[in-house]
Order: sequence, then structure tokens, then C-alpha cells
Amino acid sequence: MNDNLHRLRCFGCGARISGAEARPDFRCAVCGDLFEVEYPGWDHRRGPDRPNPGALKWLWRERRSSSEMLDRSGVWRFRELLPILDNFGNAVTLFEGNTPLYHLPRAAKALGIDQLYAKHQGMNPTGSFKDTGMTAALSVAKERGFEWVACASTGNTSAAMAAYAARAGLRCLVLIPDGKIAWGKLAQAMDYGAITCQLKADFDGCLSLLTEIVKEAPIYLLNSVNPYRLEGQKTPAFEIAEAFDWNVPDHLIVPGGNLGNSSALGKGFRELHELGLVARMPRISVIQAEGANPLVRSFAENDGTALEPVHAQTRATAIRIGNPASWRKASQVIHSTGGWCLDVTEAEIALAKAEVGAEGLGCEPASAVTLAGLKKLRKQGAIGSGETVVLLLTGNTLKDADYTIDFHKGTLLKDEEKVGLESELEGMRRNAQQVEASISAVLATLKGQAS
Ligand code: F0G
Repeated sequence: MNDNLHRLRCFGCGARISGAEARPDFRCAVCGDLFEVEYPGWDHRRGPDRPNPGALKWLWRERRSSSEMLDRSGVWRFRELLPILDNFGNAVTLFEGNTPLYHLPRAAKALGIDQLYAKHQGMNPTGSFKDTGMTAALSVAKERGFEWVACASTGNTSAAMAAYAARAGLRCLVLIPDGKIAWGKLAQAMDYGAITCQLKADFDGCLSLLTEIVKEAPIYLLNSVNPYRLEGQKTPAFEIAEAFDWNVPDHLIVPGGNLGNSSALGKGFRELHELGLVARMPRISVIQAEGANPLVRSFAENDGTALEPVHAQTRATAIRIGNPASWRKASQVIHSTGGWCLDVTEAEIALAKAEVGAEGLGCEPASAVTLAGLKKLRKQGAIGSGETVVLLLTGNTLKDADYTIDFHKGTLLKDEEKVGLESELEGMRRNAQQVEASISAVLATLKGQAS
């Protein structure tokens, strides 16, 4: 059986090609822009391939109690909306997705919003949202007979790719910026058997080099320029809609790096809307770090119609990206949903990360930009107290333990970065204390905390 119903459409010029015709760099031969997966069978209102909303909602819920391998994946559970494989039996899964949606009571109270939630993509098998995209694109690589896959990465993509490649028995090459990624992520890539090259370049340099390498050798590119990655990464939109009983939240807030994820989630909600599974789209806002904010600048300067790369600098290394590949797609998502694009400082990120930690969840610094961004949007009056807001937490707190420890030791930020937030930052610090090994000393420490 051929489960494959897709083709690729160029996001820039609209040229359409089959999946097999895509170039190794996934750029359009006509205009150089990126592709998006589309499903022609969905166009015809009564066509045989157009999914039936009621039946799908029922089927997807039923699959949650199934023990079939594909049904246990939170990505392939929704496979009717990502028919990208010739045979779904080729899917490589680690049972990704089905991640929790948590209420954030403390942050909600502090911000005066009742309905504030975190969709924690850091609870995926390798600890980040990348797993949802990797199961999709790596399955395509396997089905098409590739032996080698590769990515440039700030860490999480490489960890995910290495794990899925190992499961599929494929070899993989990772290009990472020298010294600019969190150790936990590098350790994962090594553990899963990747060939890892640290290059004297930033993420953008690694990606442009890899783009040339894949033109020379039969290596399948697994960065988010690969449109199949985004097909997997759109599925958290389905999970969010399902969790709200197909009434979408008012607002979704997403971190922005290479901008594949915001593009994917926008596509996910758009498809749900077009297929009649939900009645409207949430606003989707993208938050960047102040030192890595090319899209924010683009919105300020030309309403998101042109992008000037920046030299990126932030301790949230996952989003230390100055020349994001999917900026046009993300810009379109922000515009079409009425969302915002803004940036937050290093101190705001550190504080928000500690606050997510204090909710008992934790996340990596790049994920915390969402809460920092929400605070800004609340201050600006952009989000009302009655609105339902979901923050997309992209990575697990264990990914970057050095950042967390430096924060609690008080060595993370320079004094000039803390200005205006000194007491709030200080109030969140919980450094480990050296205490004598006696009952009285430990109890005295507790007393000191209580006062
Ligand atoms: N949050 C985390 C934890 C990430 O790892 C990334 C991207 C992002 C947010 C931004 O997502 O690029 O789709 O806008 N990490 C990539 C990597 C670049 O190589 O792991 P984006």
C-alpha cells in the first residue's frame, strides 16, 4: 500500500515538485526558497483523500489506548495528517510526542492570567521538541535508502538525530559550533554514536557548510530546511487542540531560533482549521533573545518582509542563531495569526527560567524566553487576563545544567545585565550550601530559610 499523498510547494514562488525531485539542500531550483509539504487530496471538499474531522478526532483518541507501535507515538498517532511515507511501516519511532500540558499556577497568579499552560516538549525521548520532527524526516531518509544523515546544530537537533539514526541503523554526521553548545547535548550525540565535528564557526556557518557538503555526497540533510521535519513538528499543535477539546487556546508563545518550529506549529493549526477540526487559529507569537533577534529587527524595520542576518550572542545557546532559515515562514505565521515578535534580555531569560523551575517543571534557557516574552506582552496590555495562553517549552532543564548552576551560584549574569531585576533574580537563587554533617547544623539552615 502507498500511504504517500504529498508533494512539495515552494514557499517563495509556489513551484510544485514531487518529494523525489527535491534537491539535497531542499532549496527551490527556481527561486532558492524553502519548500512546504502539501497534500493535494485535501483540496477537494468531497475528495476521497480529504480527512473526516469527526472520525479523526475519535480515531486519534482511541489510539491513545492502543499498543501498536505507531499508535504509541504522539506524532504517528496523527498520521492521517502527515502522509509522507510510502509505507508507514518504515517509521522510526522512540514514542515521541504525547507530551504533558501543565497548568502554571504561580506564574498565572503573578501575571493575573487564570489559564496559563506550558506544553512541555522537553519531556520527549531525547529531551527536546526536535524528536517530533526527527521521527518524521529520518523515517523519510530511511525509506529513501540513505545510509548517512547529517545536521548542523546548536545541540538539540544533533541529540535527536543521533538517537533516531541509531534506532534506524543509519550513520550520522553532526556539525556543531565550537564551545557554544551545552555539554548535555554534546554528550547525547556522542552516546548515540554520532560522528561529531566541532567547527570554528557559529551555527549559521555550520549550516551553510553542511548545505555545500550534501551537494557533494549522498548524505540526507536533517535540519529544519528539510520540510519533513516540520511535518513532525506540527503535531504538538494537534495535541494542544485535542487537550482543549478542539477549542484552541487564544495564544501560543514559541521561542525563535532557526524559526522552523514556529513555522511548523503555524502550519499545524492552519491545517486543523482548513480541515474543519478547529474553528479558529490561536495567535502565535515568537520570542527571541535580545542578542540573537534578527526576526524582531526585521519586524521593527520592515514588518517582517526582509531579514538582515545578525552576529548572534546569547547564553541561551539553543537559539544563538543570526541567519534563520525559515524566517519567511515564521513571519507569515505571525502575520496571519495576529501574533507578535519580540525579544527579551539575558536577565529576563534567567529569571523566567528560574520561575519555570519553581513550578516544578524546569526548562532550558531557550524555552524560558516564552515566559519572559509573555510578561512583556502582559505589561504592554497585548494579552488580556481572560485569555488562555500556552507557552511552548522546547527543552528539558537537564540539557544545560551549567547555566542553572551558574544562575544559582550568582555567577551567570554581569551586574550591568541585572539592572532593574536585581531583587527578583536574587529572590530566585537557591545555591547549594556547605553545611556541617550534624542534625543541628541542617536544622539551623532550615530555620535560616524560614525567616
Ligand atoms: N528551543 C530549543 C531548546 C532549541 O534547541 C531550539 C533550536 C529552539 C528553541 C528554536 O527552534 O530553531 O525551530 O526556531 N535548536 C536548533 C538545534 C537550532 O540545532 O538544536 P527553531
